[in-house]
Amino acid sequence: MNPQLRKPVIAGNWKMYKTIAETEAFFTGIAPLVAGPSHADIVIAPPFTALRRAVELGAPIGIGISAQDLHWEKEGAFTGEISAAMLRDAGCRYTLIGHSERRQFFGETDQSVNKKLKAALGAGLIPIVCVGETLAEREAGQTEAVLDRQLTQGLAGLTEAAFSPIIIAYEPVWAIGTGRTATPEIAQQAHAFIRNRVGGTISPAAAQRLRILYGGSVKPDNIAGLMAQPDLDGALVGGASLDPHAFADIVRFDRKR
Ligand code: 13P
Repeated sequence: MNPQLRKPVIAGNWKMYKTIAETEAFFTGIAPLVAGPSHADIVIAPPFTALRRAVELGAPIGIGISAQDLHWEKEGAFTGEISAAMLRDAGCRYTLIGHSERRQFFGETDQSVNKKLKAALGAGLIPIVCVGETLAEREAGQTEAVLDRQLTQGLAGLTEAAFSPIIIAYEPVWAIGTGRTATPEIAQQAHAFIRNRVGGTISPAAAQRLRILYGGSVKPDNIAGLMAQPDLDGALVGGASLDPHAFADIVRFDRKR
C-alpha cells in the first residue's frame, strides 16, 4: 500500500442482508467505533431498500454509501431495474459493478459491466468494478487470462480522464464466503497483474493512482497481512461487514488491537 498516493478503501458489501431496522442498528453500533478522521475511505453497500436510510446515517460519521448494482439506461420500461441517476438521487456516491454473484447467477457479462460502468461514470458515481477467477479457472492456470479479459472488455473505450475515479476489486470466486482467503502473496500477485495491465491500457500514471481492493473472506485477523502488500489498497468485505465490531476492526487495520 502506498498511502501517499492511494488512500485505502474499506468497503462492506451487505449482499441480500439487513432490513431498515437492522441497518439502523448497524450504524448505531459502528458510529462510536469509527468516530473522527479516518486513514481510509469507508463505504457500505446495503440492499436498495436500505440505501436512503444508510445515506442519512452514514453521512454524519463519514461513511459513504454504495449500491450493489445498477442498470445502464437512464430510465425506461425496465421493470425491476434502477438507474445511476436514481442512485445519485438516493445519495449514493459509489456503486459495485460486475460482482461475481451477478456474473454467476444473474447473467452479468463483461459487456454489461462496460455499459454499467459508463452509466455510473456519466452520473458521477464512483464505480467499484469487481473481477476475479473461479476455482476451476485458477486450477487450469487461467487466472491472468480471465483477469485480462475482464479488464479489457469491462474497461473498454475509457479515456484516462474517464478512468480516474474507478476502483477495482479483485475477488477470487473461490475465496468468497468460503473462509478460504487468498494468501497475501496470491492476492499481491493478482493485484500487481491488474495494476500492470491498467498501466498498459490506460496509462502508467493512472495505474499508480488506481486503488485495488481485495475481497474474499476478509476478517479482522487477516486484514493486516493483506494490507501489508504493496499493491493492496483496501478490502471489499462481505460476511464480516454485517457486524459493526468486526467491520470497525477491519477499518482500523492499522491499529494494534
Ligand atoms: P465474503 O467476505 O463473505 O467472503 O464476501 C466477499 C464479497 O463477495 C464481497 O463483495
